[in-house]
Amino acid sequence: MSSRPKVEALGYKSGPISETKGPYATTNAAGSAYAPGSLLTVEHLSVADVAEILASATRLERMAAAERARVLVDRTVALLFYESSTRTRTSFELAAKSLGVTTTLVSDKSSSIEKGESLKDTGLTLRALGAEAIILRHPASGAPFLLARVTGLPVLNAGDGMHQHPSQALLDLRTMLLRLGLGADATIDAKTLAGVNVVIAGDIRHSRVARSNAMLLPRLGARVVLCGPPELLPEEALGLNAYLDANASGSPAIEIERDFDVALRSATVVMMLRIQKERLEGTALDLAEYVERYQLHGARLVALAPRALVMHPGPIIRGLEITGEVADGPQSAIEEQVAQGLAVRRAVLVRALGERA
Ligand code: CP
Repeated sequence: MSSRPKVEALGYKSGPISETKGPYATTNAAGSAYAPGSLLTVEHLSVADVAEILASATRLERMAAAERARVLVDRTVALLFYESSTRTRTSFELAAKSLGVTTTLVSDKSSSIEKGESLKDTGLTLRALGAEAIILRHPASGAPFLLARVTGLPVLNAGDGMHQHPSQALLDLRTMLLRLGLGADATIDAKTLAGVNVVIAGDIRHSRVARSNAMLLPRLGARVVLCGPPELLPEEALGLNAYLDANASGSPAIEIERDFDVALRSATVVMMLRIQKERLEGTALDLAEYVERYQLHGARLVALAPRALVMHPGPIIRGLEITGEVADGPQSAIEEQVAQGLAVRRAVLVRALGERA
């Protein structure tokens, strides 16, 4: 458990650990009042935790399928989704099934949530039906903290509002290690990503993926450059640096560069983000101008970052933040990110439920 200061940049507060007093909640060796194995925010992960999760992902991946299917046999997990999802929901479900877990899906669209049942009562109902852990996606930042508190179960945050998407950051990290040639067995420490410049471009303001990656990657030595117009990237984003230790040179690990072409010239990795049109109401963003200045298209990539790894958490909007030729091109790791979701989510499920002896 980190003792780092809480991040309040970008208009959100991270989950207050000390307020947790759920009926089943425990105080574990790391001092958390949430059930051991919960994955609520990357803030709760030490570098050693990250190393352990990635090593577990690799070990499970190398296991024969029949052996893997016994790792969590007869365990039960609920997927509770209040927002649409393709990648996260499917990969969590397939990861669980591959470990022998019985899964059940509850969606806000086809459940008693439509009748007004609260998150607390839905969680307690799932617990009463035998769920041993809950995977939650919710539009409200902090919802997984509440669910963990009231159920006392391990909760895996599958994306909460504009706050966190920790398993996405872990799968992004594993994708980088593999595609940058560091390998699945790379030593994970404060220097693993030394010399790696990660440009995160687009709608940073609304992106839980950007926030989780910006709070994780510099702790492994990466430099993170946030890139976008002020409407989508407020200066307050630099407040994320308060969470990170100063690096050896004393310069901040997270920087802002408004000019995408300048940012691209130094990029080892360029992580594009979807413009979240559903959250743009009230902003003065000119989409045509945005495309002109920030779209990652073939000519821009070839001219400025011909060796950079292209990533995107999805869903991608072809022709807006990225063109089809780049998304489908040789520098793209977008499909590999999806595949790594399976490996990483197996590991966080085993961490949540505890492997059979
Ligand atoms: N990356 C991601 O969270 O995608 P989904 O919304 O499809 O789960």
